[in-house]
Parts: sequence; structure tokens; C-alpha cells
Amino acid sequence: MSEKIAPQDTCVLVTGGAGFIGSHTVVELLTRGYQVVIVDDLSNASAKVMDRIKTIVGEPAAANLTFYEADVNDRAALAKIFDEHRPSRVIHFAGYKAVGESVSKPIEYYANNIGNTLTLVDVMREHGCKSIIFSSSATVYGDPDSLPLTEESPKKPATNPYGWTKWMIEQILTDLHTADPEWNVVLLRYFNPIGAHPSGLMGEDPKGIPNNLVPYVAQTAIGKRDAVHVFGDDYDTPDGTGVRDYIHVCDLASGHAAALAWMNGRTGVEVFNLGTGTGTSVLEIIKAFSKACGHEIPYVVDPRRPGDVTANYADCSKARDLMGWEAKFNIEDMCRDSWNWQSHNPDGYEG
Ligand code: UFG
Repeated sequence: MSEKIAPQDTCVLVTGGAGFIGSHTVVELLTRGYQVVIVDDLSNASAKVMDRIKTIVGEPAAANLTFYEADVNDRAALAKIFDEHRPSRVIHFAGYKAVGESVSKPIEYYANNIGNTLTLVDVMREHGCKSIIFSSSATVYGDPDSLPLTEESPKKPATNPYGWTKWMIEQILTDLHTADPEWNVVLLRYFNPIGAHPSGLMGEDPKGIPNNLVPYVAQTAIGKRDAVHVFGDDYDTPDGTGVRDYIHVCDLASGHAAALAWMNGRTGVEVFNLGTGTGTSVLEIIKAFSKACGHEIPYVVDPRRPGDVTANYADCSKARDLMGWEAKFNIEDMCRDSWNWQSHNPDGYEG
């Protein structure tokens, strides 16, 4: 058993805490009384999110947040932060995440995502911190043989370097526990995170042309893009378009808080799916978003995008049964909150 600690006495180091999922998780942790130290190099995030986080949580929780602009690969900087704060838990979000870009930049993806994880766990070990929650992805399931996906569903070879980094880091963290059973590892496999904080103060802020569906739909809704490109309408699904398990980012955030509470006082390696259990097609998303923004969103049908699977959605009963966690928000909520964020922050945090 690892030591059991009350939230107010627990310092959680969050890598990538200024990013989309990280920032929402930090709000959830501060609200629950944890001390939080964010380490983020701001390569794909804005420092402005710190003020937004503080506004949402208010005092006194805001006083429990510390931010360092640092690269997790910078061993000396990371060691100094560990010396100073002595975190007892780590949530590891930091990493490159663009699937297409990973195909053209494999060295950068492997060096950054795997390299920073190795640096992180080495510094953790040196400081006697052996509890980590890792941001994994449903991408490790590849093209599923059957649905819904449970944690027992087989891992499949990844179709791109980004996917391989998730796959390999899961393995690395599992091997760490085999070598030293004091490690306490939780692998959270996210389905498709969308939505934004209901306050409209935080949301997804992709640089350049969005790779993912909902940010693209949101930018089309606001007139920044002419039309959504639907990647294929000839899949074996009810309307022919790809089906995914979209989950509100605030539900994902509460999933991390549930995992922190669950892992308290344990050791081991555990995998949890975080999704809603409901599949939604591309056309259904466009329809729900049109309703949220109050006008029809134009779309055109393009060929399939290479590497895309037909459908995936999660069985989330393990997270419910063990951690007492369930997603609360539906697609309407997700589109409403995405639109609220997009319409109030048309140029993201830099607007
Ligand atoms: N899609 C479009 N048009 C777009 C973008 C996407 O039609 O402009 C479609 C895709 O074909 C797919 C669905 O919308 O059917 C969702 O695509 P996203 O790019 O939003 O999400 P993916 O499911 O492809 O990717 C997500 C995560 C990745 C992860 C992957 C596999 O963003 O990090 O799931 O689990 F690797």
C-alpha cells in the first residue's frame, strides 16, 4: 500500500496542465482542495489560462496553484520543481497530440512524448514519488473487433507514431511497476474529448487549422471556415459517417479526480476507459452543433481520412464500479458549451 493522504495535504504535479484537458482537470483538483503544481512549456497552450483557472475556482483555492513554464524534458528544471514542492502524485498530460503531424515528424514525437515520460519517471523515482496517472487514448484499441470496448479489448498495433507513443508509454509504466511494485500507475484511455468549461472561460484553442472534428465545426459555425469536411459517408454505420464516443472535457476532468481518490493508498497498474458509452456520428455532431449555435452549419463530403476507424465507443462500467465515476453530460451539453466558449473567445485565449 502506498501512503494514504488527504486532498489538502496532497501536492499533485500536472504536466501539460495549461492544455485543454489539463486545465479543466486542474480546476477540478483545486475545487476538491488539492495543491497543484503545473509544469507546461506552453508550446501548445497559453499562460492566460492561469488567470481563467483562478477566476473559476476563486480564493482560497486559487492560492493552491503554482505554475512553472518548463519543458518536462528539462531534467534540471524538473528536479528543482520536485525539490521545491515534493509532489506525491503526478498527472502526466504533456505531449504532442496531432496524429497527422506525427506521421511526418516521428523523431520529434518519439523524442518528446517518450523522452519526457522517461525523464519524468526518473525524477519521480529519485524523489520517492511513485504515483502517476497517464493520459492514454482509445487509439490503443485500433480498429475494434467488437463494440463496446472494454479495458480487456485487445490493444492493436498503432497506425501512426502518436498512437505508438500512447501504446508504448502504457507499456513503459507497466514495466516500471513490474520492476518495483511500489509504483502506483493509472492509465486513463480517453475517448473523444470535446466541450468546454460551462463558464465560457476555458476551452480548446487549437493552433492553425483544427485536426479534430468539433473544433473545426465550431470554427465553421463562427464563420472562420467555409464548410465542415466530412471524411467519408460510406462507412458501415447508420448514416455512413464515422461514429465516436464524445465525452465532455469536464467529465474527463472529474474522471481524473476520481482516479486520484481511487489510487490513494494503493499500488498497482490499472486501466480505465473514460467515455460515455454512446456513439455519435459526424452528421449527428453537425446537427447538434447547428442546434446549439442557432443556424445550419454547411458541410461537404470528402473521401475517408486514412487511418480512421469506422466506429468506437466505450464500456465504462469498470470506472463506474471501481471509482464511482460516470459521465454526466450529453452531446447537447457538449455542443452548447463548445459554442459558448467559441462564440465568446473567437480567437481563443489570444483574442
Ligand atoms: N472528421 C471529419 N472531419 C474533420 C475531422 C474529423 O469528418 O474535419 C471525422 C473523422 O473522420 C472521425 C470523427 O470525425 O470519424 C472524429 O475525428 P477526430 O479527428 O475529431 O477524432 P479521432 O477519433 O480521429 O481522434 C481522436 C483523438 C486522437 C486519438 C484518436 C483515436 O483526437 O487523439 O481519437 O482514438 F488518437
